Amino acid sequence: MNNDKSDHKPTRRRFLARAAAAAAVTPVVSTALAKGALDGNRCDAHAPLAQGTRAEPFYGRHQGGIATAMHRNTYFMAFNMSSSDRSQLIALLKSWTAAAAEITQRNAHSPSDTDESAVPHDSGAATGLLPSRLTVTFGFGPTLFEKNGEDRFGIAKLRPAALADLPRFPGDQLIPERCGGDLSVQASADDPQVAEYAIRRMASAAYGIADIAWAQSGFCSIAKPKETPRNTMGFKDGTMNIRTDDADTMQRFVWVGDEGPAWMQCGSYMVIRPIRIALEHWDRMKLGFQEQTVGRHKNSGAPIGKVHEFDDLDLDAVDSEGNPLIAENAHARLAAPASNDGAQILRKGYSYDNGVARFAERWPPWRQAVTFDSGLLFQCYQRDPRTGFTRMFEKMSRFDMLNQFTTHIGSGVFACPPGAKEGEYIGQALFSA
Ligand code: HEM
Repeated sequence: MNNDKSDHKPTRRRFLARAAAAAAVTPVVSTALAKGALDGNRCDAHAPLAQGTRAEPFYGRHQGGIATAMHRNTYFMAFNMSSSDRSQLIALLKSWTAAAAEITQRNAHSPSDTDESAVPHDSGAATGLLPSRLTVTFGFGPTLFEKNGEDRFGIAKLRPAALADLPRFPGDQLIPERCGGDLSVQASADDPQVAEYAIRRMASAAYGIADIAWAQSGFCSIAKPKETPRNTMGFKDGTMNIRTDDADTMQRFVWVGDEGPAWMQCGSYMVIRPIRIALEHWDRMKLGFQEQTVGRHKNSGAPIGKVHEFDDLDLDAVDSEGNPLIAENAHARLAAPASNDGAQILRKGYSYDNGVARFAERWPPWRQAVTFDSGLLFQCYQRDPRTGFTRMFEKMSRFDMLNQFTTHIGSGVFACPPGAKEGEYIGQALFSA
């Protein structure tokens, strides 16, 4: 036991030791520590400690940030290569891998720059902050393989068939400045500044090799242990998602298998769609209509006509007049595996809020107004987007009642290779194939 007077200094070890001591006598805090601080994003309203603070492993079979429990914050950034030099691309992937391996594992981010005559090697914005479960996930867009008919990096032949360009969907209002990208990097953490710090480290390593194409940060509310977070429309979002601890389902729908190519096995394809939500319009809708639109009750998250969130979504249930309880064009019906030949995707949506902007309102359409510039940074991982996102959204984009309130304004599809082993860099197998 250290009796030094400086013992009152709040170091992380003492902080956790005190929390653990308190946990021994307070069951509520003990649960929060076990299920929250040490276990990820489970949060207990009674325990401010519950935010995930530990480090997530970087090296491994899969990249972090895919099967990892939802973080509170994310920062997505797409880059376009300004260099056409294959060796510079490889050098960038090596430096990104090394930086991600370092910053995800640093315990309390500490200042490492002391030379006043040199430019610091990073912003210093995470100095003293906890690892916050930081993950950094990398992806390769279709244009990395071939752009305007040009095979800049000698990998055009290695483009997987599953990395197909997404079709244009009815209702798409895509802004070119929020679409595509040769490379994607996503930093997610339980502290917004750690995510921002990480993405700036990556952007700074790309200087002179790749330019920022577009970016979007986002957040996710995490309520109580084992509860499904609500989105900004007020509905529980994620009830019927794939469980990441269900290895069989993850292998069947999320991780690339023998169908290859070999360099993508154990990786996954990510579709990202910033979706603007007309929140003012939504907020003026009657509760019953909101629930019909989603196909679920707002408070409980239960399917219409049921009581509990995880009650079966019975698509055949009818009311006393024989009308379907869950409307034919309700979001939950159109998205359900039963409506899509059994297709499933791993959804990882984060809400975004970019302040306000002047938009032509969806209703009434003649109204020009300053409104919330916010929505859902929709994101999903799958083994093949053609049988995942595209299969599902073809029908939803035409019939979903939710479309009255949502507009897809950006789009991207990226091949996220498997995780790296120590000593390797992310995507190495692609460049040695
Ligand atoms: C702003 C846009 C969107 C919002 C606010 C939203 C919201 C929701 C909500 C509240 C649920 C019900 C709770 C749940 O099961 O998680 C849900 C379910 C679901 N959504 Fe969305 N969603 C959006 C866009 C999309 C898109 C673009 C897709 C895919 C193409 C999608 C796929 C799904 C799936 C697969 C389910 C689960 C269906 C089931 O298995 O029963 N969502 N969504």
